Amino acid sequence: MQIGPFAVVPRSREARLNVDDFRAAARRRLPRPVWAYIENGADDGRTTAANADAWGRWLVRQRVLAGVHDVDTATTVVGDDLALPVLLGPVGLAGAVGGAGDLAAAEAAARYSTRAIVSTGSTHTLEEVGAAATPGAWFQLYPWGDRRLTGSLIDRARAAGFGTLVVTVDVPVVGNRLGERRYGMNSQPWLSPGVALRYAGRPRWLLGAARHRRFSLANLAEPGGRGGIAESVRRHAIAMRPDLSWDDLAWMRRRWGGRVLVKGVLDADDAARAVDVGVDGVIVSNHGGRQLAGTLPTARALIDVVDRVGTETDVVVDGGIRSGHDVAVALALGARAVLIGRPWLYGLAVAGTDGVAEVLGVLDAELRRTAHLMGVRSVRELSREHLVCAAEVAAELVW
Ligand SMILES: Cc1cc2nc3c(=O)[nH]c(=O)nc-3n(C[C@H](O)[C@H](O)[C@H](O)COP(=O)(O)O)c2cc1C
Repeated sequence: MQIGPFAVVPRSREARLNVDDFRAAARRRLPRPVWAYIENGADDGRTTAANADAWGRWLVRQRVLAGVHDVDTATTVVGDDLALPVLLGPVGLAGAVGGAGDLAAAEAAARYSTRAIVSTGSTHTLEEVGAAATPGAWFQLYPWGDRRLTGSLIDRARAAGFGTLVVTVDVPVVGNRLGERRYGMNSQPWLSPGVALRYAGRPRWLLGAARHRRFSLANLAEPGGRGGIAESVRRHAIAMRPDLSWDDLAWMRRRWGGRVLVKGVLDADDAARAVDVGVDGVIVSNHGGRQLAGTLPTARALIDVVDRVGTETDVVVDGGIRSGHDVAVALALGARAVLIGRPWLYGLAVAGTDGVAEVLGVLDAELRRTAHLMGVRSVRELSREHLVCAAEVAAELVW
């Protein structure tokens, strides 16, 4: 329908123009416990906030009359060609946010010729996702103490057609996630009358949840699906081992035999050690600030890691990436690509698979526009020459 010069669009097309818009819409749709699960960081959340803040501390240089027609956003990470340098990071329990969960991520990533990394804690089994995803998909492994269990997951991932293994190493113990603990979303899930009311206040979410029932960690659920969320989360918690070491990583690399990235590195010495073990890539990450509160924001750690191992291995980064500007800064600082965690969950909460794809679309468009205005033809050209430190500029403004 048309009213004068205006095309009338449904309410569902209400302006979702950037990641913040998706965040606000997701917050309105999700029950408070689920919102706390995805949004909160460890302790007071300072590292989650610092991650997002840090990207804005770099300014990008505007260049004019550069004759750029289109921006090429393609990149290669551990030999995998991606059309967009933004991957969907592994997220446990995505089905609690939206029933399509890990399948939505796989499909949205395929639409943009990038990758979704399937979590060990996925709510669809890795076989279900492997069958739906573009061949050679990426699987994230939580290394458990029991090598038999870890080995069986590695073998299952290989059999299901996954091509790249991402080993997450920053959870020897679970961070102090107050949001999860406050609402019974931790390793021993609970429900009180007060928390139940929080769910009741979101009937649309409840209806969807009653339909899809994707709440358990599917890779860990008992055969036949018995046990549900409590049992699978309990199994996950028991399986974690606090004393994992470099020997364990070396063993996992050998057992997998294919491409391996290590996720959760913040320290240049650890990055160098990982390269010694023979990994193909390092993901600079502090788990979205969900582990050690008060540690380095990833934008800062990235610089140390790239300076130490950037010529020997592919470096990827995540944490607080919320715009094309942030992606451009990360690439200019030396990352080959970035992961997003919460932003794709916002999209999932708002509009399922299409919502996740819309979030990727927003970042794609913002990255292209930013690079264009920086006078860059390909995002692979981005380097530290393209950046200016905001603090230095601020200091120069003082006289
Ligand atoms: C709700 C939630 C669940 C997560 N689950 C996992 C997981 O199962 N495995 C993992 O390696 N990282 C997990 N992460 C961390 C993300 O992969 C990623 O490192 C982080 O979210 C990036 O920060 P961002 O959310 O600010 O983009 C999770 C993050 C969130 C928010």
